[in-house]
Amino acid sequence: MASPLEGIKVIDMTEVQSGPSCTQMLAWFGAEVIKIERPGGGDPTRHELLDMPGLDGLYYLQLNSNKRSMGLNVKTAQGKEILTKLLKDADVFVENLHPGAAAELGFSWDEVHKINPRIVYGSITGFDENSPYANVKCYEPIAQCAGGAASTTGWWTGEHALPTQSGAALGDSNTGMHLLIGLLAALLQRDKTGQGQWVRQSMQASVLNLCRVKLRDQQILEHTGRLTNYPQYPNDRFGDSVPRSGNIEGGGVLGWCYKCKGWETDSNAYVYIVIQNEPKSFALFCQGIGKPEWVTDPKFNTAEARDKVKEEIYAEIEKFTIDKDKKDVVATLSKYGVPCGPVLSMKEIENDASLRQNGTIVEVPQIERGSYLTVGMPMKFSDFTPQIKGAPLLGQDTDPILKSLGYSDEEIVQLRDAQVVA
Ligand SMILES: CC(C)(COP(=O)(O)OP(=O)(O)OC[C@H]1O[C@@H](n2cnc3c(N)ncnc32)[C@H](O)[C@@H]1OP(=O)(O)O)[C@@H](O)C(=O)NCCC(=O)NCCS
Repeated sequence: MASPLEGIKVIDMTEVQSGPSCTQMLAWFGAEVIKIERPGGGDPTRHELLDMPGLDGLYYLQLNSNKRSMGLNVKTAQGKEILTKLLKDADVFVENLHPGAAAELGFSWDEVHKINPRIVYGSITGFDENSPYANVKCYEPIAQCAGGAASTTGWWTGEHALPTQSGAALGDSNTGMHLLIGLLAALLQRDKTGQGQWVRQSMQASVLNLCRVKLRDQQILEHTGRLTNYPQYPNDRFGDSVPRSGNIEGGGVLGWCYKCKGWETDSNAYVYIVIQNEPKSFALFCQGIGKPEWVTDPKFNTAEARDKVKEEIYAEIEKFTIDKDKKDVVATLSKYGVPCGPVLSMKEIENDASLRQNGTIVEVPQIERGSYLTVGMPMKFSDFTPQIKGAPLLGQDTDPILKSLGYSDEEIVQLRDAQVVA
């Protein structure tokens, strides 16, 4: 079976994480992705957070596999000419340069659309065009702060009651995945209309899309003055916006994270348990944690009642979990149909055999280094298995790409000497 995007050509002027995560996925789907990099250093992530001297960093490798790399100085006249030639028969162009930079280089949406009306053009920015921050350069934490994640994440009281960002790349890779969806939709539409379009994805909007439920909560707070399930309910005062919510489940059911055996020395010896509202599920949960009397006790046997004494419930559940291994807790409670899961450290995830078996974590062969670990294709298809290969060295494919555009060996040497290509 051919790969879903076989025959699709992508010109990739993205750097760091947001854009490269998108174009890497296009490459995994089988598109030919040509990464255009500044001669000299290329993508800054090649040189950041290095673990092996002289080799491209893991940050770069994890975001650029299956691509081709061309060192091309697009600030030179000849560089612009080469990029224009590449765009003529490309299907997708993606950039995440700082606001205005693509236009300054002469490759705005309007210009690229003139070069090739069929091309789908993708841009990542920090903020949408009418935002007061439209011209601000943006990195991950900035997007999490402006997209509603930081104000609603973390502790609501005590010295650590600060806006807190998630460890997940909600601003970066999440934005790349959002853009990916937009590009695939635009490609499908182009097949019907013959016309490409400009897909713009801001990091703020991508984060906010994942904070949709917090906007729900904001309106509930405005309508009722309180938010059940939140740690502040029922005894503390609510302010006028959604507070930080600690470890609550957030979807109308009680959920919390509990200490398990070894918590004193292992910061991840914890388990998360959700108490479903439906009476049959609640009865099974009570059996599972050895509290069958809660089923008939009006203090505990409705969701509303439980919410008012949730601190007491959390303490009782922790008496059940604290002397047990987190995986044993899950094994026991899952027999009663209780939704629960262990907190897994990165070390545990790295060594998890099932994640490897499912291709969610893959070991990728890499030129010079040997191999590296990365997160593989998160979606699983019935009739397509991505072949994840290594990431290219800077300019590894410059010569064959130039030759495919008709440049002779002699011309390529001249372009290299003039530092147009690398
Ligand atoms: C990530 C970001 C903050 C980095 O900003 P930056 O350090 O100015 O780096 P950029 O890559 O945008 O641009 C640097 C320069 O390289 C130039 N450049 C990039 N590729 C080039 C190439 N192949 N040839 C010649 N010049 C190139 C750009 O035109 C720009 O030139 P200028 O400063 O004279 O305008 C910024 O690009 C940004 O805000 N992007 C949008 C949001 C985003 O994706 N953030 C990253 C999240 S991981």
